[in-house]
Amino acid sequence: MAQRLPPLVIDNGTGYTKMGFAGNSEPSFVFPTVIATRQAASSSNQARGGRTQPTRVGGVEDLDFYIGDEAIANSRTYSLHNPIRHGMIDNWDLMERFWEQSIFKYLRAEPEDHYVLLTEPPLNPPENRENTAEIMFESFNVGGLYIAVQAVLALAASWTSSKVSERTLTGVVIDSGDGVTHTIPVAEGYVIGSSIKHIPIAGSDITKFVQQLLRDRGETANIPPEDQMRVAEKIKEDYTYVCQDIVKEFRKYDADPYRYFARYAGEHSVTGRQYNVDVGYERFLAPEIFFNPEIYSSDFLTPLPEVVDNVIQSSPIDVRRGLYKNIVLSGGSTMFKDFGKRLQRDIKHIVDGRIQMSEDRSGNLIKSSGVEVNVISHKRQRYAVWYGGSLMASTPEFYNVSYSRADYEECGPSLVRRFSIFGSAN
Ligand SMILES: Nc1ncnc2c1ncn2[C@@H]1O[C@H](COP(=O)(O)OP(=O)(O)OP(=O)(O)O)[C@@H](O)[C@H]1O
Ligand SMILES: [Mg+2]
Repeated sequence: MAQRLPPLVIDNGTGYTKMGFAGNSEPSFVFPTVIATRQAASSSNQARGGRTQPTRVGGVEDLDFYIGDEAIANSRTYSLHNPIRHGMIDNWDLMERFWEQSIFKYLRAEPEDHYVLLTEPPLNPPENRENTAEIMFESFNVGGLYIAVQAVLALAASWTSSKVSERTLTGVVIDSGDGVTHTIPVAEGYVIGSSIKHIPIAGSDITKFVQQLLRDRGETANIPPEDQMRVAEKIKEDYTYVCQDIVKEFRKYDADPYRYFARYAGEHSVTGRQYNVDVGYERFLAPEIFFNPEIYSSDFLTPLPEVVDNVIQSSPIDVRRGLYKNIVLSGGSTMFKDFGKRLQRDIKHIVDGRIQMSEDRSGNLIKSSGVEVNVISHKRQRYAVWYGGSLMASTPEFYNVSYSRADYEECGPSLVRRFSIFGSAN
């Protein structure tokens, strides 16, 4: 068989697109999932009505648009759009153009020479898969296609053991990006859809919270208004961590602020003027909103460890042990230092409390052997979904579970309603 070119791996998130080639350990490109066009995008959600043809001007395809950072740089003269909302493709025309530049201009790949692995959120409607397949095969003529559920890829990304027997596709994935946090139980590669829970707290909320805390302490006066969001995001990414006890942490800071306060040095993006921002309590308060959401929101009040426990308790009883044992982190907003450690401790606390209660109720006649709780942090966590895709698409099995162009030509788009799970294909 002729040497195949590596598959393209593309993970389009609500906030950021991660893309590159199978077999690599990091995506070659990470940029915002935004597109800048000359005209306002049609506002209708085309997901239901099927897709329309790409915008053509005088019979010629409209190439006057930018994606990613270039789109943001041109936001004065073009209008910006987010083709993905809450993890799902919301505008097919814009998405097609976004993919077109991603593949040709960034990856510089000829799609007919490659298989493509794309990712989708849990519970993605089958029509969305069909639309995606139609664009991939009919507009781009790709060699083959596989669409993988993000959570399943995140589980694969956490495999640290080289022992194949220890590679499990059973676990709970906590995927926290910019817009939403999903808690997704998976048993042997299949998502337990009815037990998934979404938490309306993720990266952009934490950034807003940091900004609010800085404002409360009068620090934002130093920051040019147009840079405030960016600075808050940078402070969030570079200076914050999860503490193990919030009361003790406050005391520590108050006793020796010079030791714990940090200083962010910024430069005005237009004038070049230098300014400083003192970074204080927000260092540990920012990610605390996962554990004590009431400090930020009055609408959503359930702490993340409790949500994870609820998700597992609502899953079938025979998989619960396997789920507690493999709670896997994925996405940018799980990157806070000691996030996994605190989460594991708090979940363990809930589980042990419940065991204790049932032992007490039985008059100590029944003794439990305990439940193992593991939260897995690993070094590919930031781009876990992409990395899991890269791993899977570099196995020979990938070609068995994907559909080729010939398959598509024979059966049409409904083909992609079902994909085989890795490990189960023959
Ligand atoms: N080191 C870090 N610490 C904390 N947050 C971080 C870090 N690095 C990135 N982030 C945050 O992670 C978020 C982006 O994560 P990710 O790329 O996983 O999201 P996405 O896939 O685009 O969104 P979604 O999963 O919601 O569709 C941003 O809010 C960013 O500020
Ligand atoms: Mg994501």
